[in-house]
Amino acid sequence: MKRGILESQKRRLTEIAPFTPSPRPERREEWKLKLDANENHFIDSNILRRILLEAIEEVDPRFYPVEEFQLLREDISRWLGVGSDLIALGCGADQLVELLVQAFGVGYGVASISPTFPSYETRCRILGLRYSSTPLRGDGFELDVERLSEEARRSGLVFICSPNNPTANQFRRDDILAIVEAAAGVVVVDEAYADFGEYSMVRDVERYDNLIVLRTFSKFFGLAGLRVGYLIAPRDVVDAFVRVVPPFNVPSFSLAVARRALRYLDHALKAAEELKAERSRLIQRLNEVSGVRAFPSQANFIFLTASVDAATARRTLAEHGVMARVIEGLPGLGTCFRITVGRREANDTVIRAFSSLVGGSG
Ligand SMILES: Cc1ncc(COP(=O)(O)O)c(C=O)c1O
Repeated sequence: MKRGILESQKRRLTEIAPFTPSPRPERREEWKLKLDANENHFIDSNILRRILLEAIEEVDPRFYPVEEFQLLREDISRWLGVGSDLIALGCGADQLVELLVQAFGVGYGVASISPTFPSYETRCRILGLRYSSTPLRGDGFELDVERLSEEARRSGLVFICSPNNPTANQFRRDDILAIVEAAAGVVVVDEAYADFGEYSMVRDVERYDNLIVLRTFSKFFGLAGLRVGYLIAPRDVVDAFVRVVPPFNVPSFSLAVARRALRYLDHALKAAEELKAERSRLIQRLNEVSGVRAFPSQANFIFLTASVDAATARRTLAEHGVMARVIEGLPGLGTCFRITVGRREANDTVIRAFSSLVGGSG
């Protein structure tokens, strides 16, 4: 029997670019050069170990998490100073992206910027939704407020990633608010990296009926492996949104660890300060390498261009053991790189790799 439907489904789905994570090096001592996924290299793993062990004592996996959801919402609410009824939880911010597209993109389409976090477009393609991307402006990667506002007037959902992955800059608050005001639907500000930036828009949610702020425990708290994300939105938006959220979508163990993570807030803040100091040093040192341009960053990664072809770049980085994202095809930018800010020693290896890449030395 000819399975015409299955064949066309396979064709449609295989046109969607799969997400392929790079494998982690086998040897633990080489993990420090795994700088391709914007993980947190600054949180003390001994603290994490302690809270994981505490959570094991607390969690009973025979039961679905019910109270744990409410408790984490209350803890986040106290931390951020917004009502717990303005908070929804997801299995990573990534699941919330998927659910936001289902909730608000279906029927009206989605608008965003380019370049940005690829999940927004992927989720739309899976559902066959219209997705428009407005290019960022100039080499400061600013929002094109006029064009994006126009798109926002005819879309159900707008994603603005700020600080933006991969360009690492946080957009001007007034520019974002202009788009929020123009939009006919909701505007999601993805603040996965805002704890390494200059400001957060969480409190603005109380003043705008269509603003959603998306955040995660993966970056600032260093819990990427446990998959806990959350969003803050006006009460009636949360009330509508939670209807698309599958029951018990975050494991009880992850909820218990995230609650404990809020108790090491001081440590996370200190780790973020250390990261920012290393980030400045890394950017400055890379800009001293001729042929390299490292842009300002408000995230836990940096964005740079180098006058070299992508194949050579991949080879040289691999020779130095550095795992980073090499990005091709951005208009007017040549070969670009997104590199997580690592510990000092790892960053020194990155600097050496780029010196040898474009300078032929190091
Ligand atoms: C901009 C942005 N949003 C969301 C996510 C997903 O975060 P999570 O680990 O919470 O799914 C990432 C992950 O890298 C990201 O870069």
